[in-house]
Amino acid sequence: MSRRWTITVALAGYLFASIGVILLFSCNSNELNSSKKGMEENMYDEQHRPQFHFTPEKKWMNDPNGMVYYDDEYHLFYQYYPEGIVWGPMHWGHAVSKDLIRWEHLPIALYPDSLGYYFSGSAVIDYNNTSGFGDGEIPPMVAIFTFGWEDEKGIAQRQGIAFSLDKGRTWTKYEGNPVLDINLNAFRDPKVFWHRPSQKWIMSIVASNDNETIIPDHVKFFVSENLIDWEQTGEFGYTYGTQGGKWECPDLIEIPIEGTNEKKWVLIVSINPMGPNGGSGIQYFIGDFDGKTFEIDEQFKTGGGLSKTLWMDYGRDNYAGVTWSNTPDNTFVLIGWMSNWDYAQQVPTERWRSSMTIPRKLILENTVKGLRLNSKPIDQLKELRKRKKEIPAIEFYEKRAIADSLVNSTAEVILQFNKKGAGEDSKFGILLKNNKGEQVNIYFETSVNKYFIDRSRSGKVDFSPKFASIDAAPRIDDSDTLKFHLYIDKSSVELFADDGSVVMTETFFPNEDFSTIQIYGTNGGELVKGEIFELNSIW
Ligand code: FRU
Repeated sequence: MSRRWTITVALAGYLFASIGVILLFSCNSNELNSSKKGMEENMYDEQHRPQFHFTPEKKWMNDPNGMVYYDDEYHLFYQYYPEGIVWGPMHWGHAVSKDLIRWEHLPIALYPDSLGYYFSGSAVIDYNNTSGFGDGEIPPMVAIFTFGWEDEKGIAQRQGIAFSLDKGRTWTKYEGNPVLDINLNAFRDPKVFWHRPSQKWIMSIVASNDNETIIPDHVKFFVSENLIDWEQTGEFGYTYGTQGGKWECPDLIEIPIEGTNEKKWVLIVSINPMGPNGGSGIQYFIGDFDGKTFEIDEQFKTGGGLSKTLWMDYGRDNYAGVTWSNTPDNTFVLIGWMSNWDYAQQVPTERWRSSMTIPRKLILENTVKGLRLNSKPIDQLKELRKRKKEIPAIEFYEKRAIADSLVNSTAEVILQFNKKGAGEDSKFGILLKNNKGEQVNIYFETSVNKYFIDRSRSGKVDFSPKFASIDAAPRIDDSDTLKFHLYIDKSSVELFADDGSVVMTETFFPNEDFSTIQIYGTNGGELVKGEIFELNSIW
């Protein structure tokens, strides 16, 4: 199918009203649409369907699982219920990618069985064949996961393993499963990595209050020489960070501090509810790991066994995010489930439910507020750029807007505002709009020094009382230059502000696709630079 489109660029004089048509051109958008391998025709053209985010072809998806790189392929497994569009008996769905951008769907990797549903977990390449699952030539890919049942009391969540010798296409479940069972009802989401100094496998796994055993949420650390026999060596949590919701999906990484020769350990832990703007969220801790346990750095402690909470993303829709193991360049790339348990099972899509975030490279940086884990869109996303439109610099004496049309409701937008000289109550931002008067407003407000996403008037919001929201993120950077880097898809926006030191990921479901972008400032200050890229679809 060849689609034709038109771009209209208009400069608006007052209060977001578009006036003159400056530029008009048309082009063919079909270049990348050739890889819809084995998919139903037009499946990825339905309303709200993301164009450059991973979604399952159909049915329910939640957490990313088993993310591992091997032999030129990034694997993405995911929590999947192929029979329905709400959570159900969990399978591991499977897809592969060569660039983390374009995905090929593969058959389901793991099915529920007499041990239970297959909950979240990780995968590693056992190069030394420590598990003995290898055949002497091919190192086994080993998945480590939780078995569980829904709401069935008295049955503990236990850990099992499975291996594949054909690049994750077929799996053999270990006959000795479970490999780890400590008789806890909420004990799950093992994330495993190879720890070179001790030559051992390390597992981070959450244990939490399950309404029967009252224990504060925490991460337990286990070590193993063979992925089969596990021994507990440490624990972290109990009082630290944000408590009061369930801790889930931990990930422990050792990551360099940008611009230094130093490294630190970062423990990533999802929590639901109690996220920064309600419901699901991802917190992280910075400290050290000695091969046995994690210790948070003194600078983050606030006394009495408590610590400051650091949030990876202040938006409502980034949960259960973890990183790929065995990446070729040893970088840490995270992908999260782009939804929130507050309303995930009610969002207005029918054939499929939920998408993943774009992949983000994690960077540990010294900021004006101390060490922080920043997220940046991975470089490969630049390959999706199609046509670039430069937005001229403009001073905002009064309310001013610059408008552009959104092609296929997707875009990458890079903006720099200078807030010097702006009034104390100024706003700088970007509006996504359609012809029905629906909108999403992404902005910075000088009076409170925060970034916001307002999706309260974004279209379909009534499916859950918890969806319509105005969400806030405190700014970290203190310079006069406000940097917005946005990825806009049919039903989501991801804001990487100030080089990724503030991140907000949010979904929305307009009744009609958003067709216009308006960039505005309300009371002084200026737009220094603006670029809008049309983006190709990955499907
Ligand atoms: C997180 C989570 C995990 C669990 C999985 C079940 O969203 O609750 O803790 O393993 O989903 O699908």
